[in-house]
Amino acid sequence: MSKAFFITTMGCQMNDYDSDILAHSLIHAGYCKADAPEDADVILINTCTVRAKPEQKAYTLIGRMSALKERRPHVLLAVVGCLAQQKGNQLMKRFPQVDLVMGPREIGGFKDILKRIQNTRQRVEATKLEGSLDYPLPPQGYYRGRVTGYVSIMEGCNNFCTYCIVPYVRGREVSRPPREIIQEAEHLVSEGVREITLLGQNVNSYVWKGTKAWNFCALLRELNALRGLMRLRFTTSHPKDLSRELIECFGELDKLCPHIHLPFQAGSNTVLRGMGRGYTRQEYLELVQALRRVRPDIAITSDVMVGFPGERDKDFEMTLDLIKQVQFDSLFSFKYSDRKGTVAEKRRDKVEETEKASRLTRLQTLEKEIMLTKNQALEGRHVQVLVEGKSKRGHQLAGRTGTNKIVNFQSDSRTLGDIIKVNIKHAGAHSLTGEPCGP
Ligand code: 5AD
Ligand code: SF4
Repeated sequence: MSKAFFITTMGCQMNDYDSDILAHSLIHAGYCKADAPEDADVILINTCTVRAKPEQKAYTLIGRMSALKERRPHVLLAVVGCLAQQKGNQLMKRFPQVDLVMGPREIGGFKDILKRIQNTRQRVEATKLEGSLDYPLPPQGYYRGRVTGYVSIMEGCNNFCTYCIVPYVRGREVSRPPREIIQEAEHLVSEGVREITLLGQNVNSYVWKGTKAWNFCALLRELNALRGLMRLRFTTSHPKDLSRELIECFGELDKLCPHIHLPFQAGSNTVLRGMGRGYTRQEYLELVQALRRVRPDIAITSDVMVGFPGERDKDFEMTLDLIKQVQFDSLFSFKYSDRKGTVAEKRRDKVEETEKASRLTRLQTLEKEIMLTKNQALEGRHVQVLVEGKSKRGHQLAGRTGTNKIVNFQSDSRTLGDIIKVNIKHAGAHSLTGEPCGP
C-alpha cells in the first residue's frame, strides 16, 4: 500500500493554494491523500499568524497532532506556513514531536527537504525568506472535479502596514513569470476548472520585465482570452495602488467578475495614517465611485479592523459612516490584535478588549442589516450562477453569482460547472435561495 499524507489548512486563500502546492510535491514523491490524520504517514499543519485567533488555533492543532504522533512514531509531522516562519526554532523546542518547521517561501523546495528528512531522520527548520517561487507542476488529474481554482501570481508584500505581520513572514514582493501563470491557468481549465482567482497580497504591484513588460492588467487581458475559462477574479488589491487602468478592466473584460475585494481597514484619516495605509478616507470613497461608474453592478467587499491603537470613539464613528456610505456587499471585520515585531505593537495607546468587542458587535450588526437589504433587493430577480458543488448543509447545490453572492438551489449534479439562471426566492444576510429557471 502506498504511503499517505494529510494536510490541515487555516487562514487565507493563499494558504489553501500553498497546501495544494505541498500536496503536488507529496503526490510526485509517491504519496496519496489520506481521509484522516490517523491514516497518514506525513501530516502537514499549514498555519496562519495574521491575527491572534488563527495563531491560537494552530497551537491547539500542533498539540493534537503531536499526541497522535506519540502513538504512531513513524509519522513525519511538519508545521508549515506563516506561524512556522515567525516562530521557527521556538516551535521546534516547544513541540519535540515536530520534524519540520517550514516557512511559506520554502515550499518550492519542499520535495528536497522531504527527501533529506527521510534519508537522515533529522529535524529540519527551513525558514529562508528568499526561497524560489519555483513550484512543482500539478499532477495529472489533481484538479479534476473542481469548478473553481486559484493561481498565485506573486508572493510577499512590501507595504509594511503598521499592524501587519505578513511582510515579515512572507517576505518581499516577488512576481511569478507570466508564462508559468498562464500555463498553470491553462492546466486548471484543461481539468475542468471554470473560474480562476488570481492571488497575491497586493496584485496591483504585479510586474514582470521580459521581452515584453507585464503589469497586472496585461496579465488579466491575457487570461481573459483563455478558451474554456468562464470567470476570472483576483484578490487582494490595495486601494493606494488601484490604477485607473485596472478600474477600466472591469468595463472591458467580459470574464472579469463584477466584484472587487478592496480592504479599507478604517474610516478615520487619523487611524489610516497610524496604520500607514497611504490613502485617505476621501480617496477610498473616490475609488468606489470610479469603480461604480465603470461597472454599476460591481460588488464591493472589504476588510476592516476595530480598536487599532489610539482609535477614539469619533474615529470608530467614521468607520461606521464609511460603511453606511459605501454599502459593502460583505465585510470581514476583526478586532485589532498585537502582532509581535510590528510598529503598532509598540504603541502604548491600546484600546481595551471590552471596547474592541463592543465596537465589533456594533459594526457587524450594521453590516448585517446592509447585506440583508442588498440581498432582499434580489428577491424575485434572475441571477447567473456558476454551479460549484453541494450547499453547506449538503441537501442542495450551491454556486455564486458574478458578484460573489452564495446561492443555494435544488438541481441535479449534471449542472456542475455550468452557469445557470436562478430565480431568487429568499434572501438572507449571507446567502440566497432560489429555483433554477434556465441556462
Ligand atoms: N489585527 C487584526 N486584524 C488584522 N489584519 C491584519 N493584521 C491584523 C491585526 N494585527 C486583518 C486586516 C487584513 C486581514 C487579512 O486581516 O484587515 O486585511
Ligand atoms: Fe499586510 Fe498591508 Fe501587506 Fe496587506 S498590504 S499584507 S495588510 S502589510
